[in-house]
Amino acid sequence: MRKFEFSQNLRRLPPYLFAQIDRQKQELKKNGVKFIDLSIGDPDIPAPKKVIDTLYKCAKLKENQKYALDQGKYELRKAIKAWFKGRFKINLDENREVLPLIGSKEGLVHLPLGFVNKGDYVIIPSPGYPGYRGAAIFSGARSYELPLLEKNNFLPDLDKIPLFVRNKAKIIYLNYPNNPTTALAPVEFLKKLVKFCAKYGIILAYDNAYSEIYFEEKPHSILEVKGAEEIAIEFHSFSKTFSMTGFRIGWACGNKDLINGLLKVKTNIDSGIFGAVQEAGRIALDEEKDYVSNLRKIFKERKNVFVAGLKERGFEGICSQATFYVWAKIPSPFKSSIEFAQHLIKKKRIIATPGVGFGKYGERFIRFALTVDKGILKKAVRLIGGK
Ligand SMILES: Cc1ncc(COP(=O)(O)O)c(C=O)c1O
Repeated sequence: MRKFEFSQNLRRLPPYLFAQIDRQKQELKKNGVKFIDLSIGDPDIPAPKKVIDTLYKCAKLKENQKYALDQGKYELRKAIKAWFKGRFKINLDENREVLPLIGSKEGLVHLPLGFVNKGDYVIIPSPGYPGYRGAAIFSGARSYELPLLEKNNFLPDLDKIPLFVRNKAKIIYLNYPNNPTTALAPVEFLKKLVKFCAKYGIILAYDNAYSEIYFEEKPHSILEVKGAEEIAIEFHSFSKTFSMTGFRIGWACGNKDLINGLLKVKTNIDSGIFGAVQEAGRIALDEEKDYVSNLRKIFKERKNVFVAGLKERGFEGICSQATFYVWAKIPSPFKSSIEFAQHLIKKKRIIATPGVGFGKYGERFIRFALTVDKGILKKAVRLIGGK
């Protein structure tokens, strides 16, 4: 039989971390083994009822059953503009500076196709959301892994990026509140970042998927920083703010040429977002202001329970500044994050994500997603700390 080889790009991709963990999970399920899943950032809390009702109602309308506009519905773009103004005090042009996406991942991964040439560098944070690496590879770019170290509060040291990388870099991906480290970016850092990108002509792809999942300090938009509109495109998601992961909707906003380039790429790849999903997103932004404050309360309680439990059991280097993750150092007897994660699966029936899966600088850490209720988290932490 004829054998078709994967493309060079596809062969360059590392195995998608979550797919690997998913296979182990399926295996446990198939064998009827009960486990606690703290691996994937998929909230257990239902999306707002109004959002679901709107989706149902709008799915019945013929206009929504047709191809959608590539640029997204005007009403949705207006709702994004209003939400952004309310949250960050930034005025966006809904026609040229806002672009709805089929989830923020879609836009993040398609962006380099519009701006990167073979041999350019794409700078990706390590540890970082795995989608950025795939984005760099598919565009034919070389990637430069930018370390996010505990000693720097998981912010990158931009001064350490070699000159040849700065000069050949087209895009830098950064994400705060950060997955997986939970770190927040102070405004002083963001100012420095914007200056750096402007100086070297690097596109700043600022991933703000967790902008609303915070506990004390409110995260910033990069577009609050003077000059950012010249070089930045920011990504937002309905997935975490409104627990709408399966709906597949997000948006990009910022520099109009970057938005236009991304739109051109998308026009050639997808044919817009299902109209009823767009309506559901619009309702979420317009009418569900209290939903996310309640979500924050729930995640804060979970975080407090889980972090206290880990501390009692001697865990160190625990970070839980924002997002619904806890990032912690693996206990000393374990040699690697994979070894510890495998121990948790095999001996404790708990699934967590080994830090190295987010890049080599994530080694020696583990990520727990607080996407199960408080009672289960209490049980999980007891199991994790037990001999
Ligand atoms: C940092 C980060 N960016 C983007 C995404 C993708 O989110 P979406 O569901 O909007 O595609 C995720 C999802 O986990 C994420 O953690």
